[in-house]
Amino acid sequence: MPLTHTKELFAKALKGKYAVGAFNVNNMELLQAIVEACEEEKAPGMLQISRGARNYANPVYLKKLIEAAVSLSNIPIAVHLDHGDTFELCKECIDEGFTSVMIDASHEPFDKNIEICHKVVDYAHKHNFVVEGELGQLVGAKFDEGEEGGSHSKEGLYTNPQQAVEFVQRSGVDSLAVAIGNSHGAYKFKGTQHLDLERLKAIKKALMDAGLGDYPLVLHGASSVPRDLVEEINKYGGKMGSDTAGVPEADIEVARRVGCTKVNIDTDLRLAMTAAIRKVFAENPKEFDPRKYLGPARAKVKDLVRHKVRNVLYCAGHAFD
Ligand code: G3H
Ligand code: 13P
Ligand code: ZN
Repeated sequence: MPLTHTKELFAKALKGKYAVGAFNVNNMELLQAIVEACEEEKAPGMLQISRGARNYANPVYLKKLIEAAVSLSNIPIAVHLDHGDTFELCKECIDEGFTSVMIDASHEPFDKNIEICHKVVDYAHKHNFVVEGELGQLVGAKFDEGEEGGSHSKEGLYTNPQQAVEFVQRSGVDSLAVAIGNSHGAYKFKGTQHLDLERLKAIKKALMDAGLGDYPLVLHGASSVPRDLVEEINKYGGKMGSDTAGVPEADIEVARRVGCTKVNIDTDLRLAMTAAIRKVFAENPKEFDPRKYLGPARAKVKDLVRHKVRNVLYCAGHAFD
């Protein structure tokens, strides 16, 4: 089956009220695990590639691996550039046949962010591809509740609903990554902090009220950093801090219902892979056949992706809608 356009995946997800999992791919085992899991769960899937992944695996290898995975599967699969940081990289990926790109200029001032996104949108739309932009910063728990309005306050860093409307209208982006307390990695929150789901609702509503319809929002940093994976890593010699924390799956579930159409997961795949590999080495220190540790790693990632698409994103069973 050929690649499916990101636009089509989003339209179906919005209609079916589920989220599409955007899983990061860096090597063959991750790719196989994601695609096989989606296939078995009859879920649509998005494979996303970062600049780091392209540097690690080589863009040609990734392209050919994805071609192989897509040709062996029946489910709809889209390929997306994750955190594109320049127009040139976005253009390269569009020219290579990615079905969508993210241009991440969220660190730039508002007008500059719009200008950079607009340039990518111009090129992408001419070639019938879609673009994700980001407004706000993924600082996680770093804001200081006591300093509303300051540079490290929620208002300074989280996505503002009215600005989101202006940003989408002026930049022309097709989906928007929001900052609502989410952040990348395995140390997202302190204590009992959560995503700012009220803000997410307000962003969705502002876009709707402005005539932008059921506009697709994107949740980055959506790994839940499962305790059992961290414990397994540490049991077998890892030294992850006791302060690891992810987004509770219940929060993702609400985010999905409120309208996050694309949910980005990378860290949880890394944890699953690491836990499996550490276990093999701890239990069989004499092992040196890569298939004997990469195989279990692939199986563990696959189980995790099956769980996400079935129990968290609710896209399982929607591949052929
Ligand atoms: O958001 C970042 C993704 O987890 C990709 O990470 O840049 O290390 O490939 P990376
Ligand atoms: P996590 O670090 O929570 O997996 O987030 C991944 C991500 O947002 C990729 O863009
Ligand atoms: Zn991200």
